[in-house]
Formats: sequence, structure tokens, C-alpha cells
Amino acid sequence: EKVPLKMEVNGKQLSLSVEPRSTLLDILREQLNLTGTKKGCDHGQCGACTVHVNGHRINSCLTLGVMMNGKKITTIEGLAHGDQLHPMQEAFIKHDGFQCGYCTPGQIMSAVACIREGHAGSEAEIREYMSGNICRCGAYPNIVNAIQEVKD
Ligand code: FES
Repeated sequence: EKVPLKMEVNGKQLSLSVEPRSTLLDILREQLNLTGTKKGCDHGQCGACTVHVNGHRINSCLTLGVMMNGKKITTIEGLAHGDQLHPMQEAFIKHDGFQCGYCTPGQIMSAVACIREGHAGSEAEIREYMSGNICRCGAYPNIVNAIQEVKD
């Protein structure tokens, strides 16, 4: 039986009806068609599903939708302002912070949180904070460069 869920997603108030066992990731992708958030592992290992909840990053595959009542969610689709990319999106392009791009939405959401939460003090600190976001192409050095540029 479905249950009601009210949450704000990328600035829009939504009243949904969801399965109690649906993850936030599945609700975003399958119910709301916000497919920018990726499903890599579906069990908390890869970071591809990273979104912000009330400004803090979480793995949406490990989060039940019903826990999001009254919360504000931001996905990769909510970062840009119209045609104006978020500075972190610009920096990923400038520094080639991706190859295949599958992990990129999660990387960018973590990168924004890294700076916002004050964990971008040094390269080591950035790498530690970003260690939950896996990139099979190995774009890590470029991702770190992008974060360092936005931080400065
Ligand atoms: Fe959530 Fe991999 S899909 S951490």
C-alpha cells in the first residue's frame, strides 16, 4: 500500500504517493524522471546516487523516500540556474573532470558539499571527502583540480 510523501525537489513542492520501501533514488529516477542522479551499485558503495538533503549530501540509494517528508532535496538537475551552469559544473568541464560521465552527477554533488562543509582545505582533505565517489575512468586528479579552482 502506498503512503503519502511531501518533499521539495529542486525548489518545487511535491505531494507524492510512494511505496514504503522505495528508495529516494528510485523515486527521483522512476517517479519524477530525474534521471541525472545515477544508480551505480544501489548499496552505498559508489556515490553515483549522491544528492543533497537540506544542503547535506547523502547516498539516495540508502535513503528511504518516506524519510524525506518535509525535506528539501537538490539533485544535479537543480544546480544550474537556467542556462547558467553552477561554478562546479563549469570547473568540471574546464578541467576534464570526467570521461564516460556516469559518475559525474554524484561527483559534482559531493564536490559542492565538500566546499560548503569546509573540507576543501588541502588536496588530501578533498581526496578524503571525495573518497566515497568512485570513478572507473580515473578522472580523480582532474576532479580535485576542479574543486580546488572553485574553492579559490
Ligand atoms: Fe548509491 Fe552506488 S548507487 S552508492
